[in-house]
Amino acid sequence: MGETNHQVLVTGGAGYIGSHVVKELTRRGYRAVVYDNLQTGHRQAVKNAPLIQADLADIAGLTQAFQSHSIHAVMHFAADCLVNESMKDPLKFINNNVRNGLHLLEAMNHGGVKKFVFSSSCAVYGEPVKIPIPEDHPCLPTNVYGETKWVFEKFLQAYHDAKKLDFISLRYFNAAGADPDGELGEDHQNETHLIPLAFKALLAKNRLSIYGTDYDTPDGTCIRDYIHVMDLAQAHILALERLLQGGESATYNLGNGNGYSVREVVATAEKVSGKKISLIEAPRRAGDPARLVGSSEKIRKELGWTPKYPKLESIVQSAWNWHRSHPNGYSG
Ligand code: UFG
Repeated sequence: MGETNHQVLVTGGAGYIGSHVVKELTRRGYRAVVYDNLQTGHRQAVKNAPLIQADLADIAGLTQAFQSHSIHAVMHFAADCLVNESMKDPLKFINNNVRNGLHLLEAMNHGGVKKFVFSSSCAVYGEPVKIPIPEDHPCLPTNVYGETKWVFEKFLQAYHDAKKLDFISLRYFNAAGADPDGELGEDHQNETHLIPLAFKALLAKNRLSIYGTDYDTPDGTCIRDYIHVMDLAQAHILALERLLQGGESATYNLGNGNGYSVREVVATAEKVSGKKISLIEAPRRAGDPARLVGSSEKIRKELGWTPKYPKLESIVQSAWNWHRSHPNGYSG
């Protein structure tokens, strides 16, 4: 596709969202260098980019990465992201998502790199007081994971003010789906997300738990705003381009603005697979808000982002294509 001399360091580029973004970067003519400790990422997910297998806690390794590659911008995906785990092991999240993130900002500063795209989350908002949630909604996270993302967003502003770092924070709603080419997909060791778990249950002939059927929603189950991972990838490229063109720092939501209940997602998974998913009604999962739907008007307007796969069915179909061809994830 395009030609550009820009090289981007992608932390967490072997992970679910990071690997899809790396693929899109290279397709668009950027050069990517992946920095990943492979604790949760997969070597097989890094196709067309060099992989530096190292941890963000390794300050020497990080400094070396900036010295040995001419980096123009950083995309930072590497993080711990399981909400439940964040409540049990807050220090792990503070160390990885905040402290290691600050190592990265320091290494960038030493290396003279000033452009940064950050993977933030709708978890920064906490319990919504307004739906769809706009970016200026109060940020009152209800879990440690969300707190680490919110704190880091504030540190980015501090680095912007003190060190002239330009950043774009992208607050994802529910990332789902897979690479339409079938090369990449979602493969978490400890899977907690609804769509992959629905297909795993279907393939292994297990039951899928529905966490809570007594929410104040039309069918009693939680409502979420699902966004295709390729549409997320697209938004990252637009954010990068904006920064490279000298654009202002900004924060954007990324969702489709449509909410779907757990039961609607299950029905869609059954429709695309043509198979019945056996269900068990389970108690609510602690900390799950009834409804999370975002407004992405700001990124549509300011960066011209237009999702290519806004329909739940396309998102779930692409996830099904991946899961049925990779029942054991990247290992087969
Ligand atoms: N759910 C089930 N059964 C399951 C798994 C999930 O019923 O086996 C339900 C959940 O209770 C929730 C919905 O399906 O209502 C979606 O759950 P996910 O785990 O797929 O996603 P979350 O909305 O919990 O998590 C997302 C992001 C997180 C982010 C969080 C913010 O994946 O990174 O939103 O609250 F932190």
